[in-house]
Amino acid sequence: ADLKSFIEDMPKAELHLHIEGTLEPELLFALAQRNNVKLAYDSVDALRAAYDFSDLQSFLDLYYAGAAVLQTEQDFYEMTAAYIARSRADNVRHSEIFFDPQTHTERGIGIDVVFAGIARALREARDTHGFSSGMIMSFLRHLSEDDAFATLEAALPLRETYSDLWIGIGLDSAERGNPPEKFARVFARCRELGFHLVAHAGEEGPPQYVVDALDVLHVERIDHGVRSEEDPALMQRLAQQRTPLTVCPLSNLKLCVVDDMRKHNLARLLHAGLAVTVNSDDPAYFGGYMNANFLAVAEALRLSRTELVMLARNGFEASFLPAAEKQRLL
Ligand code: ADE
Ligand code: ZN
Repeated sequence: ADLKSFIEDMPKAELHLHIEGTLEPELLFALAQRNNVKLAYDSVDALRAAYDFSDLQSFLDLYYAGAAVLQTEQDFYEMTAAYIARSRADNVRHSEIFFDPQTHTERGIGIDVVFAGIARALREARDTHGFSSGMIMSFLRHLSEDDAFATLEAALPLRETYSDLWIGIGLDSAERGNPPEKFARVFARCRELGFHLVAHAGEEGPPQYVVDALDVLHVERIDHGVRSEEDPALMQRLAQQRTPLTVCPLSNLKLCVVDDMRKHNLARLLHAGLAVTVNSDDPAYFGGYMNANFLAVAEALRLSRTELVMLARNGFEASFLPAAEKQRLL
């Protein structure tokens, strides 16, 4: 088989995906019209043309503005259903999905609306197609820890209702200047509550943020983590502990974390023995879903088929699925 078909045929698990980052311009415009939300762009093409980012913040500004079109349970459902359709087409069998309630509750949307719409699509996909998934509620790190605590308190009454899906807690948004320590207390509480823990670290921020995500927040996976390479002791530790990194190649290129895919360190991280996985992050904004991410690194880094299989298998191994489920799905 050619490289593209080989990638398409591999079963995949996705571990770093922001559901709000799957809102394609076409659906974004349709929802804006339905909900009477005024947009700063007057066409799908004009919006897509604005997806030209210089760093993480330049993306986040558009991403939060775009999320304003999400108002009803049906809107969250349709966005999630569209993501699942794209993922199934890419032979993704399991996905652990981030969602940012604060982006919506700030606008007066009920947190129950957010949970309900996403969960309805995930349950429907599970029951109809055997598509497996989990939900990871993420705190916005540019907001205060008190705000994160308030979000946790608002969400906890829903825990039973979504016990089949809600598996973890994450930390995202602007990394620089918002170190893991800022969320030490709320992560300690989430740990007591028995949630799986992850955090974005070492995307734009220094390797010390990766160390602190591990030592202060006690996360089980690092989202991105590509700057870990700057700290040899950290690299040794990540390899030894097999702490997964959820790497997002097209995201790193679009947000100028790397200026050329041929310079991406994914292959070096893999060869150093780290549990590297490939993920799409915000695929509607960064130019592709899972297969596009695999193909981009396969070509730019001349990865072997053995390496591609390792990356895909790492996705299942690094997932929060029970061991028997990991085996069954891959
Ligand atoms: N929110 C959505 N995508 C993100 C990313 N790549 N880094 C930090 N926060 C995000
Ligand atoms: Zn991310």
